[in-house]
Amino acid sequence: MHLPDYKEARTRDKRDYHRFDFSLDEELKNKYQGMKYYIKTYGCQMNEHDSEVIEALLELLGFIKTDHYLESDLIILNTCSIRENAHNKAFGMLGRIKHLKQEKPDLIVGICGCMAQEASVVEAILRDYKFVNFVVGTHNLHELPKVLDHSIQNETQEIEVYSREGDLIEEVPVVRANSYKAYVNIIYGCDKFCTYCIVPYTRGRERSRKKEDILKEVDQLIADGYQEITLLGQNVNAYGKDLYHDYNLGDLLEEIAFKNIPRIRFMTSHPWDFTDKMIEVIGKYPNIMPSIHLPVQSGSNRILKLMGRRYTRESYLELFHKIKKQIPRVSVSTDIIVGFPQEEEEDFLDTLRLVEECRYDNAFTFIFSQREGTPACRLEDNTTLEEKEERLQRLNTLVNTIFLENNQKLVGTSLEVMVEGISDKKTMYYGYSDTNKLINFSCDKELKPGDLVSVEITDAKTWSLDGRSI
Ligand code: SAH
Ligand code: SF4
Ligand code: F3S
Repeated sequence: MHLPDYKEARTRDKRDYHRFDFSLDEELKNKYQGMKYYIKTYGCQMNEHDSEVIEALLELLGFIKTDHYLESDLIILNTCSIRENAHNKAFGMLGRIKHLKQEKPDLIVGICGCMAQEASVVEAILRDYKFVNFVVGTHNLHELPKVLDHSIQNETQEIEVYSREGDLIEEVPVVRANSYKAYVNIIYGCDKFCTYCIVPYTRGRERSRKKEDILKEVDQLIADGYQEITLLGQNVNAYGKDLYHDYNLGDLLEEIAFKNIPRIRFMTSHPWDFTDKMIEVIGKYPNIMPSIHLPVQSGSNRILKLMGRRYTRESYLELFHKIKKQIPRVSVSTDIIVGFPQEEEEDFLDTLRLVEECRYDNAFTFIFSQREGTPACRLEDNTTLEEKEERLQRLNTLVNTIFLENNQKLVGTSLEVMVEGISDKKTMYYGYSDTNKLINFSCDKELKPGDLVSVEITDAKTWSLDGRSI
C-alpha cells in the first residue's frame, strides 16, 4: 500500500527519470476474458487520453467495454480534482455504486486519476468507501493490471499511489476513441504552481517525452490514416525545457508540420512560455491550426499576482496582440476565474475590460473553488457566493455577446471543416473549422468522420455556425 502525501508531491528536484517500455506479465493476459468494464472519465483531455490507455490495459486483461454501468463487472472512475464540483460528481457516482454493490457483491470498483493523488480522498475511501477494490495514482497508471489483479486475487483493498513522479513509460498500449483524430502527450506534469491550482500536486513535475518517441507515435498515427493530432500537456509551451538546450515546442511543431498530416493542434499554452519562434511556426505552416487556447484567468494585475500567474495584464495583452497580428485568421480562446479571494469589483471590471479588448472566440469561465493544500486556500475571502455568481453571470453575458458578434462576421465566408459526425437531424453533418468553430452543415454527398470539406457559412449562433458544403 502506498498513500499520497502533498508535502512530497510539492517537491521538485533535478533527479533523473528514466524511460522504460511498458510490458505486461504474460500470466495476466486475457486472465479476465469476457468480463465487462465500464469507465467514467471526468476532467481534461489528459484524463480522456489516460482513459484510452486504461481501456487498452483492461482489454489486454480480456475485459470487454460496455457503456452501461449497471451491466458491468468492473467500474473504473477516472477522476478530476480541479474544482469542487468535479469531486462531487465522482463521489455522487460512488454513492450510486455503493447501492449497486449491495445487489452485486462481486462488482469490482477502481479509482484512478487526479483525485487518487489527494490524501483526503484516499482517507475517505479507506474510511467510508471500503467497497472500492483499488486506487491507482496518475504516476503509475501502467501498474493498473497488477494492482487490479492483486486486489481481486487477495480480496484486499489495494491503494497504490505515489506522490513523486517515477519513470516515463513508453510503448503504453492505447485504444483510441476515434479513428481520425488522436491525442499525443508531449509533456506531463506542471511546475507553475498557480496558487489556486491542484494540478502540480496531482500530476507532478514537468517531464517531456523524448522527441523521438513523440515523432514515432505521430508517424504511426499518420500510417493509420489519422487526419488530426492534438499535442497534449498541462503546459505544452514548456516542452523540451527539461530535456534539451535548444529544442522547444516551436521546433517540435515544425518537425511535425513537415509530415503528411492535415491538422495539428496543441493545448494548453501558458502565456509565460510562449516564444516568438512558436508564433512564427504556427503562422507559417498551414497544417498547424490557427487556434490557440491562452488562459488569462484575470484582467487585474493585483489578482494575477495573487494567483502567481507570472505575467501582467500588459504583458498578456502584448503577447495576445502579437499572436493576432502574426498568425492569419487565428482564433484565441481562454479560461477565466471569477471570485478569486480578494477580487474586488474594480478587479472584476478589469477582467471585463480585458475581455472586451481581446474579443475571444471561446472562453471557459469558472467560479474560484478552494482546493485543499493550495496557497489560495489560505487567502482571506470576503466575497459571498452570490456576488461571485453574479460576476460569473455578467462575464458570461459579455463573452456570449462577443462570440455571437465574432460568428456573425463569418456569415458569407467559407471555412474548411473536418467532419466529426452526423447531427440528430440526420441530413446534417457537424465538424470543426481550422479555427475550432463548431459548424453544422448540409451536404448532398455522403461524408465520413475525418473528411475535410469546404463549407459556406449561412448563419451564426453563439456557440456554433450553420452552413452548406460547396
Ligand atoms: N494548465 C492550464 C489550465 C488547466 S486547468 C493553464 O494553466 O492554462 C483548466 C482551468 O481550470 C484553468 O485554466 C483555470 O481557469 C481553472 N481552474 C483551475 N483551478 C481552479 C480552481 N481552484 N477554481 C476554479 N477554477 C480553476
Ligand atoms: Fe494549474 Fe497553473 Fe499549472 Fe495551469 S499552469 S496546470 S493553472 S498550476
Ligand atoms: Fe482535472 Fe487532473 Fe485534468 S485535476 S483538469 S483531470 S489534470
